[in-house]
Amino acid sequence: MPDSPLVVCLGNVVADHTFRVEDIPQPPAKITARSYSIGPGGMAANAAIAVVRLGGRAAFWGRVGEDLNGDPLAEALAAEGVDVSGLRRVPGGRTPVGAVLVDPHGERTIISFRGSGLGTDAAWLPLDVLRRAGALCCDPRWPEGVAAAAAVARAAGVPVVLDGERSETRILVDLVPRVDHAVFSVPGLANYAPGCMPEEGLRRALASGPLRVAAVTQGEKGTLWMAAGDEKPTRTPAFPVEATNTTGAGDVFHGAYALAMAEGMDVPRAMRFASAAGALRARDGATPTRSMVDALL
Ligand SMILES: Nc1ncnc2c1ncn2[C@@H]1O[C@H](COP(=O)(O)OP(=O)(O)OP(=O)(O)O)[C@@H](O)[C@H]1O
Ligand SMILES: [Mg+2]
Repeated sequence: MPDSPLVVCLGNVVADHTFRVEDIPQPPAKITARSYSIGPGGMAANAAIAVVRLGGRAAFWGRVGEDLNGDPLAEALAAEGVDVSGLRRVPGGRTPVGAVLVDPHGERTIISFRGSGLGTDAAWLPLDVLRRAGALCCDPRWPEGVAAAAAVARAAGVPVVLDGERSETRILVDLVPRVDHAVFSVPGLANYAPGCMPEEGLRRALASGPLRVAAVTQGEKGTLWMAAGDEKPTRTPAFPVEATNTTGAGDVFHGAYALAMAEGMDVPRAMRFASAAGALRARDGATPTRSMVDALL
């Protein structure tokens, strides 16, 4: 599809090792898993996969280590149709890894390692690509990368979407004014604006820089958002679904929202489109295709 827009997704990719277990005992313990799988996780990586499923083109920009987990992640993203030429293996680095224990009720216990030795350098990023992109979608796990890419994207008039997920306050406070659309999770907004009500947090984000939109996704309660100049926030309700696994719904929401921006949708339509994609992910535990989202809409 040469005409479908390109969304560059920058940030975190994690090797998620998922074990289905009977129960999670107190230590010391040794338990046998009923099943095991390994796959790509991480906010920006999940967003990139969502962009492709929804009919766009996606490039993933980020870092993995030169270790046993790095190459399989690159292969898995490539198998999803994501361009991984901007995924760097950092010599001496360790890849971010998650151990996900799922009990028979679907309850999850997650141990995550954020990687190490990946450095901060962003000078190698193929920033020129942004000039022909439709949107840039970032998460806060590599702030130096976001700063470099967002500056070039903005100068080229390419909309920048930030997944304002849980992070240190100072990182979010630094990144928000660099983007056009700051779309927080509930804990992320609490990290960004500690002690504030959601509406106040969104107003603070809009006042901090030349943002177009500030939003917070609130799971099955939907999404609260404000555009610059709005007097009051608007709520885009969630699509009612029977949720089986809400992990990654936010990541899919961000990928879908960035694709919507790349396709030129207005904000209310983009919020509905992304909400439908997030709801289907929560329902199925898998990222939906465009036709599934269109059917729900
Ligand atoms: N149970 C649900 N039912 C319907 N829609 C949902 C549900 N959970 C999530 N969504 C949709 O997906 C959006 C993002 O979900 P949520 O707010 O849970 O993201 P999050 O907290 O960032 O989670 P994560 O990062 O684990 O994916 C919601 O605003 C909503 O539109
Ligand atoms: Mg999230």
